[in-house]
Amino acid sequence: MLSQKLQAALNDQINAELASAYLYLAMAAHFEASNLVGSGRWMRRQAREEVTHAMKIFDFVHGRDGRVTLAAVAQPPAQFGSSVEAWEQVLKHEKGVTDRIHQLYALAVAENDYPTQTMLHWFIDEQVEEEKTATTILEQARMIGPSNSALYFLDRHLGKEAEG
Ligand SMILES: [Fe+2]
Ligand SMILES: [Fe+2]
Repeated sequence: MLSQKLQAALNDQINAELASAYLYLAMAAHFEASNLVGSGRWMRRQAREEVTHAMKIFDFVHGRDGRVTLAAVAQPPAQFGSSVEAWEQVLKHEKGVTDRIHQLYALAVAENDYPTQTMLHWFIDEQVEEEKTATTILEQARMIGPSNSALYFLDRHLGKEAEG
């Protein structure tokens, strides 16, 4: 059975994953309002993935005879600035999530909860991927600079990627 402390931390992480989904959905709205539909599609897919992350922990808590309690989800910003600025926020956000996952893992170690540690291995690996992907896209957006025609092609590329 989960300790109360770990159960509370896992519930917090469910909330953080849902807040991530909400943030990416806000970014989808931001991009789509600027006709960057490919980037919008990428963000929609990301939002769906974040919901699956929340559900992984949701199922895990119940599998350990714990209790999921849902809190209010933070309101995301409505504006994210330029394409580069938006991708900077994605990378910063994912780095923050990585820190959270690492803290959660440290707590699972302190509480001698081995199943939670095993479950979190997936999230640790996932965050490596998330940061790698966000860094690549951010660097590509930086390469483009103020060129609208290059931005158009990056947007198309991201849209295709989100289809697959
Ligand atoms: Fe996530
Ligand atoms: Fe993420």
